[in-house]
Amino acid sequence: MEEIADASTLRAAMAGARCSGKSIGLVPTMGYLHRGHTSLMAHARADNDVVVASIFVNPTQFGPSEDLLRYPRDLERDRAIAKEVGVDVLFVPDAETMYPDGPDHQEIWVDPGSLAAHLDGASRPFHYRGVATVVAKLFNLVQPHRAYFGQKDGQQSLIVGRMARDLAFGIAVVTVPTVREADGLALSSRNVFLSPDERSQAVAIPKALALARNLILDGGHRDARGIAERMRALIEREAPLARIDFIGVVATDTIAPVSTIAGDSMIALAVYFGGARLIDNETVRFIDGTPHFGSR
Ligand code: PAJ
Repeated sequence: MEEIADASTLRAAMAGARCSGKSIGLVPTMGYLHRGHTSLMAHARADNDVVVASIFVNPTQFGPSEDLLRYPRDLERDRAIAKEVGVDVLFVPDAETMYPDGPDHQEIWVDPGSLAAHLDGASRPFHYRGVATVVAKLFNLVQPHRAYFGQKDGQQSLIVGRMARDLAFGIAVVTVPTVREADGLALSSRNVFLSPDERSQAVAIPKALALARNLILDGGHRDARGIAERMRALIEREAPLARIDFIGVVATDTIAPVSTIAGDSMIALAVYFGGARLIDNETVRFIDGTPHFGSR
């Protein structure tokens, strides 16, 4: 595995790979790698000749009161994990490489428009502008054939896919299923912030999504507000340490709220445990009027 920190070395390596007809897969991350990240890398490994993973804790996607400074980092461990999974190039830029004039002096941004108006985008103003902009930079630097994103961050994956299309990047954005712990909690770098009590109560998040799934599949429920209320009640009952940020049901293509679940939709939630904000979602697709979940 080659580790590259600067843009010109990366561009040269990628140009070389493309010239020799190799396909390139990119996995952008903020590091502190876990099995969610390595699942993306394994998918990239299976589909491409060259796998590039990036590690960069992107300052412009954190709000002023968010956890940028305490975001967990362990480059040494990340190196070993990336190597083990078969990453060819680990791109670890410093802030100046990604923001030559500093993150406070970025002038030109990628605006995710109304796709960022709801769910996480509503709770975290400018978050998806920062995400879309840094991913666009990574797309330009690497110019991969494919790029891999996790369903765990469902809104992010949809925004990046739409960006690739609307801005003609010519990159296939692949969404990889959420990797979960045995009890259902989605893996996240932020899970390390949970105390033992918080960790055991955090299982209420996947339980609430399972409840929604059952209400829709087995109960025939279609009322988005009713389902969200039942999810809220479950979390309040089973996780007294939780503070619910939002529970939302949106159309998968527009990320606009729906009142009736009749077409492809995403049920998403964000829940605080202490300072850790955890997100998760389920997507439902309708085939011939029948709902189908990714997980069932
Ligand atoms: P990060 O949170 O490090 O996540 C990197 C990628 O791993 C994202 O595509 C995310 O959806 C995926 N991922 C995280 N947990 C996962 C899980 N449990 N199962 C499957 N995939 C999972 O997301 C970011 O970084 C940043 O916003 C980034 C895209 C790198 C831009 O800065």
